[in-house]
Amino acid sequence: MSKSIAIDGPAGAGKSTIARMVAKELGFIYVDTGAMYRAMALYMIKNNVEPSDSEKISKTCTDADITIRHENGEQVVFLNGENVNGLIRTEEVGQMASASSVNGDVRKKLVELQQKLAATTDVVMDGRDIGTVVLPGADLKIYLTASSGVRAKRRYDELTAKGQECDLDVIEKDIIERDDRDMHREISPLRQADDAVYLDSSDMTVEDVKERILQLFSR
Ligand code: DC
Repeated sequence: MSKSIAIDGPAGAGKSTIARMVAKELGFIYVDTGAMYRAMALYMIKNNVEPSDSEKISKTCTDADITIRHENGEQVVFLNGENVNGLIRTEEVGQMASASSVNGDVRKKLVELQQKLAATTDVVMDGRDIGTVVLPGADLKIYLTASSGVRAKRRYDELTAKGQECDLDVIEKDIIERDDRDMHREISPLRQADDAVYLDSSDMTVEDVKERILQLFSR
């Protein structure tokens, strides 16, 4: 039986940084499900699909072949055979991912892919619905969050470090808007699973959070 740790939470809570560190420590594979929704969103943008056109999103998603591979411990996402890792980390793609991930056909397709991966490999998987829908039997579930101000500042630092111009207030507004949509959509909204451990990382370092998760996992 493969082992799994599910980490869910809102945008910018530090899920991917922490999940990557925990996976490395345990020798598990890190699966970033947000990157899959982002690759799907990129395909929608490329095909000029409006975020509100759910019928077109359902139709278009059937033509998007999304696969992932791991190279040197890093997840690489392929969209119809093309490595799109360098194209999916923009605010535009993030907003489209939040909008198109509301769609049931998009979710069904990507959840199947995620469950298939976890069936054969030890994983640390992060997202919004991992503990509730994708891996309800996960060995450990974490709900990782932080205040919207702290999360906006982290996103801002991340983007400016990459040389992208951005505005802190706009980022916080976008984060609040995205959380609201992710938490209130009809299918698989972001929520803490009943058996998930709640961690607020506002005043914790990434090391603290990593240690806490490893401690919880070893119990
Ligand atoms: O974690 P992220 O910012 O890369 O995710 C982008 C969007 O994808 C997010 O706004 C909601 C969606 N998402 C989802 O619906 N379910 C997941 N398991 C992961 C991401």
